[in-house]
Amino acid sequence: MMGEIKTIGVVGSGQMGSGIAQLGAVHGLDVWLLDTDPGALSRATKSISASIHRMVSKGHLSQAAGTDALGRLKCTSNLEELSTADFVIEAIVESEDVKKKLFVQLDKITKRSAILASNTSSISITRLASAVSRPLQVIGMHFMNPPPIMKLVEIIRGADTSDETYNETKALAERLGKIVICSQDYAGFIVNRILMPMINEAFFTLYTGVATKEDIDTGMKLGTNHPMGPLQLADFIGLDVCLSIMKVLHAGLGDGKYAPCPLLVQYVDAGRLGRKRGIGVYNYSKVPETVKK
Ligand code: NAI
Repeated sequence: MMGEIKTIGVVGSGQMGSGIAQLGAVHGLDVWLLDTDPGALSRATKSISASIHRMVSKGHLSQAAGTDALGRLKCTSNLEELSTADFVIEAIVESEDVKKKLFVQLDKITKRSAILASNTSSISITRLASAVSRPLQVIGMHFMNPPPIMKLVEIIRGADTSDETYNETKALAERLGKIVICSQDYAGFIVNRILMPMINEAFFTLYTGVATKEDIDTGMKLGTNHPMGPLQLADFIGLDVCLSIMKVLHAGLGDGKYAPCPLLVQYVDAGRLGRKRGIGVYNYSKVPETVKK
């Protein structure tokens, strides 16, 4: 046993990191939240504090527990602070090079016993592990967005991840109130491996004129009981993110069936990235549609 996890480090305080840090603090862990961008840290602090206050006002958390949670959360831009962490989760930008550099630094400054986890959606855990001196203690811990709400954590075992590391990570996820699934380290893991080809197929269905976008979404919502249609979901996730995961599946699994749909590629080229840009498959603003199939 590596001993009880008391302090976690969360690197990257964006959408995912801030949610993971909040979960840790609410569940009794001391949390160091780190970002290189001080603006991101202050946005994260505001959103975590607002979210905890909402939990208190809705009666999901007592006033005292809310205050304690906020007291357990500390923000920093200094990586050295993570030397006290028993477990570090990174949720920085989705770039293999940048993540590898971070892992090398974490390997130097954290306790020898600390587990190094990545929240990556698509990068190989085995390759990240190859950058450090403790590959047995490297693992994927893939939260869904938003982490405080979504029940699932997908744990990814790299080629060298030890059983002990897996068990500690699973116990931590369960302590955070999550349900765990375990994936081996192949492109897309479990959820994106199945979800993204479905979204890509929805694009092909639209591209080849089989049906309108509305009918494709209604078909999948009412026909298969999905809460959102695949095209609506793609807009929510970001079409650039969907495209980059399809490319990872295509390259990593080497099967033509994962080739990205040309319409998805064209939307991304046109900057139609989904809700975050006000336009994707659907138009969320008054911007005129510039790309027609
Ligand atoms: P984001 O862009 O909201 O946040 C990333 C943060 O990392 C930024 O605040 C940035 O300043 C910081 N950062 C970048 N490089 C850094 C470094 N070297 N050291 C410290 N901080 C650094 O990104 P988001 O959406 O939170 O994604 C983070 C990770 O989580 C990515 O690996 C992504 O693939 C994964 N992920 C994202 C999901 C999503 O729906 N957004 C879902 C599941 C996983």
